Amino acid sequence: MKMLAIESSCDETAVAIVEDGRQILSSQIRSQIPDHRIYGGVVPELASRKHLEAMHPLIEQALSEAALGWDDIDGLAVTQGPGLSGSLVVGLTTAQSLALALDKPLMGVNHLEGHVYANFLAFPDQVRFPLLVVLVSGGHTQLIEMRDHGDYSLVGSTRDDAVGEAFDKVARLLGLAYPGGPEIDRLAQQGDPKAFDFPRSMPNSFEFSFSGLKTAVLYKVRELEAQGPLPVADLCASFQQAAIDTILKKALRYAQQHQIPQISITGGVSANSYLRQQLQAQIEKQKSPYYKQIPVEFFIPPLSLCTDNAAMIAACAYYRWQGQKQAPLSAQPRWPLMNLKQKRGI
Ligand code: KG4
Ligand code: ZN
Repeated sequence: MKMLAIESSCDETAVAIVEDGRQILSSQIRSQIPDHRIYGGVVPELASRKHLEAMHPLIEQALSEAALGWDDIDGLAVTQGPGLSGSLVVGLTTAQSLALALDKPLMGVNHLEGHVYANFLAFPDQVRFPLLVVLVSGGHTQLIEMRDHGDYSLVGSTRDDAVGEAFDKVARLLGLAYPGGPEIDRLAQQGDPKAFDFPRSMPNSFEFSFSGLKTAVLYKVRELEAQGPLPVADLCASFQQAAIDTILKKALRYAQQHQIPQISITGGVSANSYLRQQLQAQIEKQKSPYYKQIPVEFFIPPLSLCTDNAAMIAACAYYRWQGQKQAPLSAQPRWPLMNLKQKRGI
């Protein structure tokens, strides 16, 4: 089944064609980062206008790269939420118009669930249930126990900022460009992660909080500013280590305590190079004969599937596909990842 998917929930316009939820025939992404950078963050009204400009050329490019015509497309999928309402509406109205004009079925997808499916797309034959999903993006930080397709239990989430948001805010504090995550990642590579001992919040819980860490960086910056030029690389490395270590430790502890054999990390922050190195280090550690815990298998998407893209939306729609047309769609700016299995009465 060939699915054409549209993603426009934030500042990336994306269109992809994916076959059977596993083979990417085309994945087009037009990032608006250069348009928003001068404002230091995403400007919602500008985002919707840029989605409008990019959408149709991207659809044409996707079809052309996949060497397909509309007759070859079996179904459409679109991100329905959560996200910026104006941005979501651009994707939704485009998908709805195409579905109506071409008489194709259309599936509305939850953006968070799309991120969950990035690893099903990248590793279709390896990812199994039960699975612990670690969703780390600009809007969310969640540990989710996934027992089947569409069957999610929220284990822990952030009480304040999402981890990506914390990266972006700390970057802004340090005078770095938007989005801050990749900037901090880049600068941290030249810094000493032990230079500053930033707090790790709620170590005994599966909940997250990043506001204390953010405030600790703010106070340290104020203190250091009075002394001379800021050691930006050291601050980046120390902040990054505190944020990422907290997430990985909690995820690993949950998986081991509940005997969940696989951890799937996904969302924009999964692009972080320190996080990826730490995973590799954990994999090596588990190979040691002295490792006494239950080994856990890790999945992390290739960089192209970490941040927002439409291929993950197509993959998600494929797995959720029941052959039926969906009820009328509407933009859902706030839409938690609920237990879809229960909701659909499967
Ligand atoms: O998943 P995503 O593209 O959009 C949302 O659904 O939120 O995630 C974007 C977030 C931003 O906060 C960005 O700073 C962060 O992911 N991010 C990173 C890296 N690349 C993107 N954070 C840390 N290190 C990175 N390399
Ligand atoms: Zn996202």
